[in-house]
Amino acid sequence: MLVSFALWHRSVCRKLPPGPASFPVVGNMMSFPRREKAQRARELAGVCEITYFHGLGQSILILNNRRAVSEFLVRRCDITGGRPTMTMAGELAGFDGSIILRQPGKEFREMRKNMSGAVGKSGASNFNKLLRPHDLGVYLSKVLRTPNQFFKHNRWLFGTYIMSVAYGYRPTEHNDPFITAAERAMFEFIGLAEPGTWIIDIFPFLKHILPKIPFGGYKESIARFRESTKALSVTPFQMVKQAIRTQEGAIASESFCASLIQQMSPNATQADEYFAAWTVGNVYAGGSDTTISSFCSFYLAMCLHPVVKQKAQAEVDLFTERMNRFPNANESDQFPYLCALISELHRWAVIAPMGAAHMSLEDMEYHGHIIPKNTTILFNSWAISQDPELYPNPSEFRPERFLGSNPQLDPREFAFGGGRRICPGMDLADTMMFLALSGCLATLEITSFPDRPPGHAWTDRFARHPVPFECNITLRSSKAQEWIDAALADG
Ligand code: HEM
Repeated sequence: MLVSFALWHRSVCRKLPPGPASFPVVGNMMSFPRREKAQRARELAGVCEITYFHGLGQSILILNNRRAVSEFLVRRCDITGGRPTMTMAGELAGFDGSIILRQPGKEFREMRKNMSGAVGKSGASNFNKLLRPHDLGVYLSKVLRTPNQFFKHNRWLFGTYIMSVAYGYRPTEHNDPFITAAERAMFEFIGLAEPGTWIIDIFPFLKHILPKIPFGGYKESIARFRESTKALSVTPFQMVKQAIRTQEGAIASESFCASLIQQMSPNATQADEYFAAWTVGNVYAGGSDTTISSFCSFYLAMCLHPVVKQKAQAEVDLFTERMNRFPNANESDQFPYLCALISELHRWAVIAPMGAAHMSLEDMEYHGHIIPKNTTILFNSWAISQDPELYPNPSEFRPERFLGSNPQLDPREFAFGGGRRICPGMDLADTMMFLALSGCLATLEITSFPDRPPGHAWTDRFARHPVPFECNITLRSSKAQEWIDAALADG
């Protein structure tokens, strides 16, 4: 009996893609890396372009190189565009309204279409009106006043940019209630979406039991999470609706939310409104933590690579000294070095080292291996960003990689995901980065303290950030102060 079970198990496993040694029932799930997933996954994979983990009712496929990513995420995107069911984050905490956890279908397509119209290339004409120089001026003044709090100020600037595009809302300079609530929701979501954290995600039937038990804290936590997700989606939507109705408050009519509300039928149901609220809520959900991480990595790169900083500053100075102002959102094509620097940030400081989990919607065959339906698919963006065949000397921060007649692979091919789920906010992210970086380079001198050099380290989370570090930030010149003052006077 035992022998025939072992033979059967071996024959099934032989058809499965390569992965660490496997045992009955638990499979090879015990080898699935819990920490530093991307680095460990690459070590485990060796030369294999895919690695497979299975057992305890779960199966996970990791794509380790560019070819595997384009084969699975792009070429087979109809089959690999699902998301794994996250019962805790989705159904219980309320994130199932967002696009991030939605399965492909009519509503998914409609949400993506609306988002592309607002934050993709076709929405770019509004970025100039909504991403105001005034906010950049406020931010630069904050940084110069309290440079040791630059991490906090970075969150403020990108929170403000996102709130402006999504809701046309101008946050207060300190402790804005909408930004605070949205940040809390996103902080909680990142914890909720971390694979393997919640027993309810492994055994979904527990959703009927655990929240009803008076001890263990599930009931209270779920109620708190639901409040947070409402504060991220429904509350700001209702605020804009109210402002449009009463024509009160400083709400820009070009914002994504205002234009969705104006297009809604007067007979819209509560479900229609909830759908619209989440369509806009996706912008903060997907766009804040990611861009803040990139912006903080920019400070790190400027401390560690002063020569790159000087080259970027020289390019920005040519513009600001000629025009006597900061560049606007439509002028990035005049800054090839700065654009290459942003590309290098997407590669060097890749934010989602294991991408975002996709799920196979059907069985798939690959070089004689069978990948079953409902397999979670992770893509090792970090391994691609460090592939020496694509990026010689990958640990070096070198924007020049992306310049000249033979540039290296654009990291947007993997750092923003792929296929049907590719990040819809890529253009907005690049625009916000361009505005913020050009303003910083024009006005701030960012250097490391000689006795406290920053490390070269990022947190070990699904969306990673540089580990907090200190840097010395001063005003570059009296002219720089004039540009900040001019920006402050603008709006
Ligand atoms: C540097 C900045 C950013 C990076 C590195 C980034 C990266 C990513 C990645 C890796 C994914 C997963 C794609 C996949 O599953 O294949 C994603 C999805 C997403 N991103 Fe971004 N993102 C950034 C900025 C933004 C911005 C500014 C927005 C605002 C609109 C945004 C909105 C979203 C949304 C809504 C999704 C989910 C799409 C879906 O599930 O279909 N992201 N992003």
